[in-house]
Amino acid sequence: MLQATMILPLVLTTLVTVANASPLEPNKRLDNGLGKTPALGWNSWNVGGCSTATAANALTAAKAFVNLGLKDLGYSYVNIDDCWANKNRNSNGDMVADPSKWPNGIKSVADQIHGMGLKFGLYGCSGTQTCAGYPGSQGNEVRDAKLLASWGVDYWKYDNCYTPSGNSSGRFMRMRDALAGSGWPIFYSMCQWGNDAVWTWGRSVGNSWRTTGDITNDWASAAKIGAHAGTIAGFAGPGGFNDLDMMEIGNGGLSAAEERTHFGLWCIAKSPIILGTDLSKISASSLKIIKTAGLLAINQDPLGKAAAPFKPSGKPAPVSGKLYPYWAGPLSDGVVIGLIAVDAAATLSVSFADVPGLGAGTYNWTEVYGGTTGSGTSVSASLGLHDMAVFKVTKV
Ligand SMILES: *[C@@H]1O[C@H](CO)[C@@H](O)[C@H](O)[C@H]1NC(C)=O
Ligand SMILES: *[C@@H]1O[C@H](CO)[C@@H](O)[C@H](O)[C@H]1NC(C)=O
Repeated sequence: MLQATMILPLVLTTLVTVANASPLEPNKRLDNGLGKTPALGWNSWNVGGCSTATAANALTAAKAFVNLGLKDLGYSYVNIDDCWANKNRNSNGDMVADPSKWPNGIKSVADQIHGMGLKFGLYGCSGTQTCAGYPGSQGNEVRDAKLLASWGVDYWKYDNCYTPSGNSSGRFMRMRDALAGSGWPIFYSMCQWGNDAVWTWGRSVGNSWRTTGDITNDWASAAKIGAHAGTIAGFAGPGGFNDLDMMEIGNGGLSAAEERTHFGLWCIAKSPIILGTDLSKISASSLKIIKTAGLLAINQDPLGKAAAPFKPSGKPAPVSGKLYPYWAGPLSDGVVIGLIAVDAAATLSVSFADVPGLGAGTYNWTEVYGGTTGSGTSVSASLGLHDMAVFKVTKV
C-alpha cells in the first residue's frame, strides 16, 4: 500500500514529461515538400551489405549517376545503409561516422555529392540499435535529426530493429517531428517492414513506407512483393508512396525478363526506385532496363496514383498472394497497362473496354520497353516466362 502510493506520483510525472517532450499528433502531415513523386536513387545495402557503407562507395555511385546518364533521367539520391557509424556515440551523445570508412566525415561527402547536383541519404533505426548493431535513435530523435541536418543529409531511411513491442506508429512519428524541426528538408523513408498496416497511416508520417520485409535476390521474392502491392495501391499518392524495397536488378538472381518485370511493376506501382547494384559493373542489359525513360516517366507522373490488378472479362480472378498478369492505373495524360507472363510464356491480350479508366473505343498506345506504337481497341503482347510489357494508352 505504502509502496503503491509512493510510486504512483512518480509514474504520473514520467508520463507527463514524455508527453510534453513529444506531443504526437497522429494526423499531422510531414509537410516537407518532398516526395511529390517517388524517390529515384541508389542504396549501398544490396551491393555488399555492411561492407559497402563507405565514402568511397557513395562517391563512386554518384559519379556513375552522372557518367551513365542516370542523373539526366532523374535518379538523384545516393544513399548509404547500415554500418556507416562507430558502434558508440561520442561523449556528447552524438553518432560518429566511422573514420576508417569516412576519412573526411559525412559532411564532406554530402557536400561533394551536392556539388554534382545530387542528393545524399543515410540510414538509422527507430530502436536502441540498428539491425547490424550500430547506434539507434530511440530517445535521441531530436539530437540525431539535428546532426543529420548539420551534415546536409537529404534522405533518412529509418529501420525497425531492437524496438519495443507494440504499434510502431509512435516511434516513427517521433522521428517525423524531429526531422520537421531539424531546419533542413529530409526525405523520410520509413522502413518498418509493412507492420501495423503502415500504408493506412504512413501518409501522415513519412514520404514512403516499406510494405514488406526485405526483398531477396530472386523471382519469388519480387513476385510476392508485387502481388502484395496490388492490394494496397490506393494508399499511394503525391508526398507518400508504398515502398516495395530496393531493386535487385544487376545482382544476378533474376533473368533479363524478370528484371524487366521487377522494374516495370515497381514503376507502375509508384514505388521509389532505389537501385541496389554496383553501378561500375552493371551489364548493358540491366542498364538499359533501369534507363527506360518511358517507365521512369510513368513512375514520376505527377498524378501519383499506383496501378493495381484488374480482371479482364473471361480471365481467372486474382488469387490472394499470387502475382496477377493484368494491371492498370491512371496517369495524368492517359492510362498505363501492365501485362506479365506469370506462369509460362504467353500471349496476353486485353480489350480497352475492360480496362479501368478507358472503356470501349479506339486509343493510341506505346509499349514503353520496345518502343512500338499503335492505335486500336486492344493491346496484345507475346511474352517469355516472367516477362512484362507496359503500355501507355492515350486518347486518339
Ligand atoms: C497503429 O497505429 C496507427 C496510428 O495510430 C493506427 O492507424 C493503426 O491502425 C495501428 N495498427 C495496428 C495494427 O494496431
Ligand atoms: C494517334 O495516333 C495517330 C496515328 O499514329 C496520330 O496521327 C495521332 O496524332 C495520334 N493522336 C494523338 C492525340 O497523339
